[in-house]
Amino acid sequence: MLRCGSIDGVSMSFDLIVKGGILPDGKRADIGIRGDHIAAVGEHLDAPAKETVDATGCLVSPPFVDPHFHMDATLSYGKPRINASGTLLEGIALWGELKPLLTHEAVKERALAYCDWAVSMGLLAIRTHVDTCDDRLLAVEALLEVKREVAPFIDLQLVAFPQDGFHRDPTARENTIRALDMGVDVVGGIPHFERTMADGTRSVTELCEIAAKRGLMVDMHCDETDDPLSRHIEQLSYETQRLGLQGRVAGSHLTSMHSMDNYYVSKLLPLMAEAQVSAIPNPLINIVLQGRHDTYPKRRGQTRVPEMLKYGIRVGFGQDCVLDPWYSLGTADMLDVAFMGLHVAQMTSPADMRRCFDMVTTQSAAIMGLEDYGLEVGKKASLVVLDAGDPVEAIRLRAGRLTVVAAGIVVSRRDRAHAKVAFGGREATVSRRFVP
Ligand code: FE2
Repeated sequence: MLRCGSIDGVSMSFDLIVKGGILPDGKRADIGIRGDHIAAVGEHLDAPAKETVDATGCLVSPPFVDPHFHMDATLSYGKPRINASGTLLEGIALWGELKPLLTHEAVKERALAYCDWAVSMGLLAIRTHVDTCDDRLLAVEALLEVKREVAPFIDLQLVAFPQDGFHRDPTARENTIRALDMGVDVVGGIPHFERTMADGTRSVTELCEIAAKRGLMVDMHCDETDDPLSRHIEQLSYETQRLGLQGRVAGSHLTSMHSMDNYYVSKLLPLMAEAQVSAIPNPLINIVLQGRHDTYPKRRGQTRVPEMLKYGIRVGFGQDCVLDPWYSLGTADMLDVAFMGLHVAQMTSPADMRRCFDMVTTQSAAIMGLEDYGLEVGKKASLVVLDAGDPVEAIRLRAGRLTVVAAGIVVSRRDRAHAKVAFGGREATVSRRFVP
């Protein structure tokens, strides 16, 4: 029975059909694909198809989305040395040592290698910051090329990111504007790294004005510190409201909010909600970077996710770093990100766990403004078949991506991971999936 209709009417055949899957809302559905778009979604689609993916009993989700990443730095771990202290500031210093050694070819090669990882993990939309504090803008050029090359399969969005400070670095302003002129999509910033709070405030205002003038979105590294007096998110919300940027602005990290005075936060969150400023916490990186100056008790540093959700603030979890000067692990697995975010935020109710899945899929897609994202008829035919029965099980297992489809093409397949165990007279094939 056809449930969601079709684009072309009833007499159709499909290029690809994904049969017997379970959608994130728990409904069983076949998904019929023609070309690069979803043509039909229904409980039983009987039309012929050139290719069939058997997803019986498996979760079929729209692709994973990473709303915060650094593709110019990824897979550079150990170059030229590792981060000995594990702090954000040593990471920035280390990146400063690596930057003069970068070549166009090396940045592009690492970025494309990461795209391979991403595709294998069903991660098909990535917002990456790209450092504009380099007069050569070599990484900007390299990532713009990567964006063009992967465009049929991966939505890669670039953020012009003045890593060393929009005012603190003497040529950051000029280079950030050059990067935007070259085609970078989003305006970034790092107000907490400017020399003074006042410079941070000025940078937020100027960068938001640049975005408003150009009709662009804004995504700033904002208050990534344990200092409770780092309050640039307040200015970011104010400028969003003043310049009419509602719904187009995100604050990344926002870790100082973890340590802020509760009364102040009770005023701040409604301001963020009113301005429709989204939040992008990055649980893997911030659980290791924050609290480094604490003895015990040691702060977790993650921003206040459940509280933001209560105010209707959109939250998307980001990965931030994989094998780079700031983070020595990572696998392009957004389920790792959701798993860590869920734990640190103590979001353990069934509804909250489910929301954590949304934060690495639909919510992050909304933050990136991906209009053709989703499993409805007419949307881009990108999806992932997971070795799990539902979104919560996917997080628990960090479930295997059995099949990944990008714009109507099967781009990755893997076998189910089953262990054969034998001990004490017991023998079993173990998948760790659970049916209550
Ligand atoms: Fe970042």
